[in-house]
Order: sequence, then structure tokens, then C-alpha cells
Amino acid sequence: MLRRLLLAASASPRLHQLIMAAPQTRAIVDSYVAGDTADDAVRVTRALRAAGLLVTLDYLGEDTKDPAQATAVTDEYVQLLGKLAAEGLTQGGAAEVSVKPTAVGLFLGATIAADNIARICTAAAQAGTTVTLDAEENEAIEPTLRIAAQLRADFGDLGNVVQACLRRSEADCRTLAARGVRVRLCKGAYSEPESVAFTARRDVDRSYARCLRVLMNGPGYPMVATHDPRLIEITGSLALLTGRAPDSFEYQMLYGIRPAEQRRLANTGAQMRVYVPYGGDWYAYLVRRLAERPGNLAFFLRSLRSKT
Ligand code: FDA
Repeated sequence: MLRRLLLAASASPRLHQLIMAAPQTRAIVDSYVAGDTADDAVRVTRALRAAGLLVTLDYLGEDTKDPAQATAVTDEYVQLLGKLAAEGLTQGGAAEVSVKPTAVGLFLGATIAADNIARICTAAAQAGTTVTLDAEENEAIEPTLRIAAQLRADFGDLGNVVQACLRRSEADCRTLAARGVRVRLCKGAYSEPESVAFTARRDVDRSYARCLRVLMNGPGYPMVATHDPRLIEITGSLALLTGRAPDSFEYQMLYGIRPAEQRRLANTGAQMRVYVPYGGDWYAYLVRRLAERPGNLAFFLRSLRSKT
């Protein structure tokens, strides 16, 4: 309930201002975000690679309202891929990128977003790595899947994200797994209505387990994005049952969340990828992380009270 309230309230300009101005905010941002610049992102990638972890980088920002801004976001990804490749960090897909379709113009028209994503995929292919399209609010899901399906003709390794909270996702997993593509499965970070989504935690977790079974049994490449110990355990059991080799799927977690568990999984010989966001436009990302964690939320509310 608190989570839904905070996500709804985050659209308020007053709350936006309060969060940005709260003195404690920066420390929380730093725990979840690599820094403001591509150089910060490369530095963090270097350190994670040295620790045996794979990386996916997200340039923060979403819901772009202006084609020039969508082009600027695309340029940033192209430059970032060049910097990562120059340091040998992209070899074999070790560091890849995650892109929010609305940041590169999804709501400005399907061709703008498709053209921008194709440019990023071209740069990624030149760097020897891959691109994964993040899943955003429900209205963005259908056009995102459509663009990915089109672009896969040229970029077969373009990945999609499926949110277990959506009622449609088990069916999406069947379609995507049948095509043998890279699919990241997450619980879903957006607040969606009952008509399209499971809203009780228990139902989301059950849906996750069902989707996971479809992906692990299918011919695709599952990317299991969760910090939930029970789901991580189920993934290990499914890998044994289905005879999946460690290099035929991967675990994924967010930068700054359960880092010891990230290292533990990597040390077992599993592939472990860390999602690393960077850039100055961190507000929406931060609010989603706060909303997921009651402890962080309480801390954040105390900061706000001290400002009002
Ligand atoms: P859950 O929220 O139940 O958390 C399980 C445990 O993890 C908690 O008990 C706690 O220990 C720890 N934890 C979780 N969140 C925490 C936090 N914020 N701070 C501290 N500890 C925390 N969503 C989406 O809608 N579209 C997308 O494209 C993506 N992409 C994505 C990529 C990757 C690599 C990951 C890991 C996640 C996403 N997500 C996402 C976010 C995802 O949907 C979900 O909101 C979060 O991962 C939290 O869900 P968990 O599965 O971790 O379970």
C-alpha cells in the first residue's frame, strides 16, 4: 500500500522538489547510482569486472518529451559503448547496456524510438556486446515488444524485459522463449491497476515462479533479475532439473543491493550481472528503489519531515 502511495505521489512537483532538496538524499542516491557521468559508469564497471561480475549500464532518464532529447540520450549510449569497448570491457558481452524505450522516444512515435534503438544496437554490435530493452509502464509494453520483434531481424541478441506482476507476462514468456531470445524476468517496479496486474506480493511471486519455469524450460537465454532469496533458490533447482549449463542463463541484481550475495553467486561459478544506472536524472529510479524497501522509505519520510 505504502509502495503504491509513494509511486503515485512521486508525480507531484512539490514532492519532487522536496526529495531533490533533502540533505540525506545524496547519500541514498550514491548507494544506488554509479555517478553522473559516463566516466563514473566506466570506473564502476571496471571495478565490478575485476570482481568477476558482468554488468549492464543504464543511462538514467525516461519519458522523453522531445525528439532532440531522445537523440541526445541515444548519442550518450553510443559514446558510452565506445568508451567501454576502448577499455576491453564489452568483450563477449561482459558489459552491455539497458535502454528505456521511452527515454529514446517511444511516446514520440514508434519510428523515432525504433531508429534510436537500432543506432544503439549497431554501436553495441560494433563493440561486441548486446542491448536489453527495459520494461516500463503498461502502456509501453506492447510497442516495446513490437519494436524488439522488428529489430531482432537485424539484431538477434536484442533482449526484452518481462514484469511478473503483469497478468499478460506468462504468455509473453511463452512467445519470447519460443523465439530463443534473451529475456530478463523481474517482478515489476511500476504501480499498475488490478485490471492488468497482480497487486498482492504473494501473487506477483507466484507469477514470477511460473514465468521462470517457462523461461528455464525453453530454448532462450533467461536473465533472472531478482534479489529475492527464495526465487534465486528456485532458479538453482530449475537449472539442475532442466540440465541448464551455468553459461546458458544468468542472475541479475541492481547496483548497491545485496552486493555480498552478488559476489557469492559469482563465486559459485554462476553468471551474475549487475545493473548499473548512472546520470543526473535519477529521481524516478530513486523513488522506485525507495518504494521497494520499507526501511529506506521510513528514512526518506523522516528526511522530508525535517525539511517541512
Ligand atoms: P523484492 O522486492 O521482494 O525484494 C527481495 C529482497 O531484496 C528484499 O527483501 C531486500 O532484501 C532486497 N531489496 C529489494 N529491493 C531493495 C531496495 N530497493 N533496497 C534494498 N534492498 C532491496 N523493473 C521494471 O519494472 N522494469 C525493468 O526493466 C526492470 N529492470 C530490472 C533489472 C534488474 C537487473 C533488476 C534486478 C531489477 C529490475 N527491475 C525492473 C526492478 C524489479 O522489477 C523489482 O522492482 C526489484 O528488483 C525488486 O524486486 P525483487 O525481485 O528484488 O524482490
